[in-house]
Order: sequence, then C-alpha cells, then structure tokens
Amino acid sequence: MSESERLITDRLILRHITLDDAPCVQEHCGNWNVASKLSRVPHPYPDGAAREWIITHVEARAKMTGFRFAIVKDGSLVGVIGIEAMDIPNAMEVGYWLGEPYWGNGYATEAGQRVVRFAFEELNLVLLQATYFLDNPASGHTLSKLGFRKTGEETRFSLARGCEVAGARLELTRQEAGF
Ligand SMILES: CC(C)(COP(=O)(O)OP(=O)(O)OC[C@H]1O[C@@H](n2cnc3c(N)ncnc32)[C@H](O)[C@@H]1OP(=O)(O)O)[C@@H](O)C(=O)NCCC(=O)NCCS
Repeated sequence: MSESERLITDRLILRHITLDDAPCVQEHCGNWNVASKLSRVPHPYPDGAAREWIITHVEARAKMTGFRFAIVKDGSLVGVIGIEAMDIPNAMEVGYWLGEPYWGNGYATEAGQRVVRFAFEELNLVLLQATYFLDNPASGHTLSKLGFRKTGEETRFSLARGCEVAGARLELTRQEAGF
C-alpha cells in the first residue's frame, strides 16, 4: 500500500492518520470508556500524546512494524485500527477502538474485515493475533465475527487502569481466513 492509497469498505474509508487527526484521537482516547479497554492508552490521556503517537507512523510503515489506519465515516474519524509487528515473523497483532458515539454500528467488524484482508493479501502475513480484556465482551464478539479463535487467557497491564487485567488471547491464520 503506497502512502496515498486507502482501504475502502462499503461504508468506511481506512486511511493513514495525519497530524490533523490529533485533536480527534486525543478526544476519543481521553474517554475512560475507550482507554480502560486498551492496554497502552493512559488515563488521563496527556496533552500532545496523540501527536507524539501519530509522528511515529511513517517510520513504522516504512519498517513494516506497524500499520495504523483512521476509520473514516462520511469524512469524520470515528476510530482507529492497526496491526503491529510481534516477535513471530510474518505475524502481527490487531488492535482497534471506536469513539463511543460510534459504537454499535458494525464499524469495528467492517474495518476489521478489510484489515484482515490487507494483512493476508497485501502484506502476505501468515498469522494475526489479538487480545481483549474479559470485561469487554463487545470486542470478544467482534473478534469472533472476524474469525479469530481463542487460544488462551493471560493478564495484561492496562496503563489506564494501572493494574493487570484478565484477558483472552486469540489468533487467526491465513488459511483459516481463507487466503
Ligand atoms: C469493541 C468496539 C471496538 C466494538 O466496536 P463496534 O463498532 O461497536 O463493534 P461492532 O458493531 O462491529 O460489533 C460489536 C458486536 O459486539 C456485540 N456486543 C456489544 N456489546 C456487547 C456485550 N456487552 N456483550 C456481548 N456482545 C456485545 C454487538 O452486538 C456486535 O455484535 P452483532 O453485530 O452480532 O450484534 C468498541 O466498543 C470500542 O471501541 N470499545 C472501546 C475500545 C475497545 O474495546 N477496543 C478493543 C480492545 S481489544
């Protein structure tokens, strides 16, 4: 995917995140109901944190260590979805959030399906992994709709909560996804 290309779905555009998106990312990640479901987002979300994160994206894409997309609906950023490199070669971990006003419309599933295709067809990965906190069944349900299979449970530190939180680990192979 070149710097200018976008991933398109029926209702959404997935495009690179730019510094113009920083205020919107800052607002949604500042919401406890979003941050508390993620492992790496602190709460309160510090001023400037969105900008600092976005600045890393070009290098991450160039090094193929991370591909992060704005989920755009009718011109507005409604969420973020990304895949990050892991220790295993040709495998990445998927993560996502939607701004709270946009929950419950199937957007995470729709964006997830397109990113799964991007990962297996365009990046030629062999494995995607994901985790979610057990007290976040909406994410568990989203991942099962994407075809992910539970492989175990683990605790992960949540920066927002400031403690270890029980979670599930899932994976989806290229073959299982039908690519
Ligand atoms: C998890 C999240 C991404 C889901 O986004 P979304 O766009 O609302 O998800 P979708 O609409 O595509 O799918 C959610 C599914 O979970 C279901 N769901 C919602 N709340 C649920 C609950 N409490 N228990 C079980 N299922 C639930 C929905 O009904 C839907 O399934 P359906 O299509 O079969 O009806 C969104 O709630 C979010 O951003 N939360 C905060 C951040 C986060 O949790 N990120 C993921 C971290 S692993």
